[in-house]
Amino acid sequence: MSPTVAADGPALAELLLQRLEWAGGGGLCSLEVAAALGLEHQQLVGAVKSLQALGQKLPCGKVGFSKAMSNKWVRLEKNAEGGPRVFRAVESVQDSVREKLQLVQQGEAERLEEKDRNELKKRKLLMEVVIKTYWIRKGSAFSTTVSKQETDLTPEMIASGSWRDLKFKAYNFEALGIMPESGHLHPLLKVRTQFRQIFLEMGFTEMPTNNFIESSFWNFDALFQPQQHPARDQHDTFFLQDPAEATDFPTDYLKRVKKVHSQGGYGSQGYKYDWKLEEARKNILRTHTTAVSARVLYRLAQQEKFTPAKYFSIDRVFRNETLDATHLAEFHQIEGVVADYGLTLGDLMGILKEFFTKLGITQLRFKPAYNPYTEPSMEVFSYHQGLQKWVEVGNSGVFRPEMLLPMGLPEGVSVIAWGLSLERPTMIKYGINNIRELVGHKVNLQMVYDSPLCRLDT
Ligand code: PHE
Repeated sequence: MSPTVAADGPALAELLLQRLEWAGGGGLCSLEVAAALGLEHQQLVGAVKSLQALGQKLPCGKVGFSKAMSNKWVRLEKNAEGGPRVFRAVESVQDSVREKLQLVQQGEAERLEEKDRNELKKRKLLMEVVIKTYWIRKGSAFSTTVSKQETDLTPEMIASGSWRDLKFKAYNFEALGIMPESGHLHPLLKVRTQFRQIFLEMGFTEMPTNNFIESSFWNFDALFQPQQHPARDQHDTFFLQDPAEATDFPTDYLKRVKKVHSQGGYGSQGYKYDWKLEEARKNILRTHTTAVSARVLYRLAQQEKFTPAKYFSIDRVFRNETLDATHLAEFHQIEGVVADYGLTLGDLMGILKEFFTKLGITQLRFKPAYNPYTEPSMEVFSYHQGLQKWVEVGNSGVFRPEMLLPMGLPEGVSVIAWGLSLERPTMIKYGINNIRELVGHKVNLQMVYDSPLCRLDT
């Protein structure tokens, strides 16, 4: 054997074994063998190590030994001196396994009996493979050249009539489609979906929020918020230049609003000031979704016969704020409104408990607060396990009669309502500390792609 063929590992190991056989009892020096084979010593060391590893594992030793025992080729003396020993029991053996494997090697595996075949398979000496073969025959359109099949019918083919002679490729209805590039929902939208789901489970109907621009009338006046209220200042509210004013108001209702502000009524003293239509007309970007609730409640009051109602909205609002890590000039509000005869603060607390329980928030506390349009008003706090403190999660209250009665709602109907921001629970849920990472031009789109689905109750 030429020494230079010993290139790959197993071949080299076998070459080494052969040399070892010729060498008789003495053994070989790896340096000498390497030199004789014209190899780097390290290559030979590799072969030696691989043989050593084989010796340690002896993967087939156990099977081989038990076969040799059952064929009575060897005999085991358990009590031999120095521990159990194995002795040769026959002069020569007839290795039937080897003969069977040789049959396979000669391509005559089918001559094996099924029993033998299965045994060899079990010992992983044999593997059966199924080969699919084709019998090829001439078809009706047989030709010795392969003509290209058309995949598209073009206007030119139709115009020239060439389509008549062309061969078109058949549709492959089995082909898998290409996965379309898909969009990703922003975390705010995922959290919004969850909130909407909770409201829908509770039987609430969604209010139409599709107007960012609102008149001061619906945003403030209808809510019994006086015209001198600081929130109606340029510093807190964005005013529109064009169109600067709204014109279309329900006249009778507007008169009643004017009256309740300036003179009072419905058991109220009012604010006793000169209410001005020009102020109510000013167009603004709505500062809260309670403007939407006011419109919807007014519409509810126009029904001939009052029916109880549960409404919700989730949409954008705008405030002229100083921007910082937790404040933007626009954000989203979530609002719930329930109208029925005789609702009390207890009903409000009960419904808030149910709503927040659905969010996974069970520890609630209420703190008296002030809103121009609700009395009583309550801020809602929940205990935050992560922050280990009580955090404000919402604002709520019972709408004032000064707001509801001018709308035309029957006496005895009360309306309870609450609101919260969408950004705050989203930031908590997704572990975002700076609102600029959630909204605006600095948002990392990867954050949007990678953010998981939102489950508020887990
Ligand atoms: N409009 C209030 C706000 O902007 C929230 C609120 C809604 C309060 C409904 C009471 C009732 O914070």
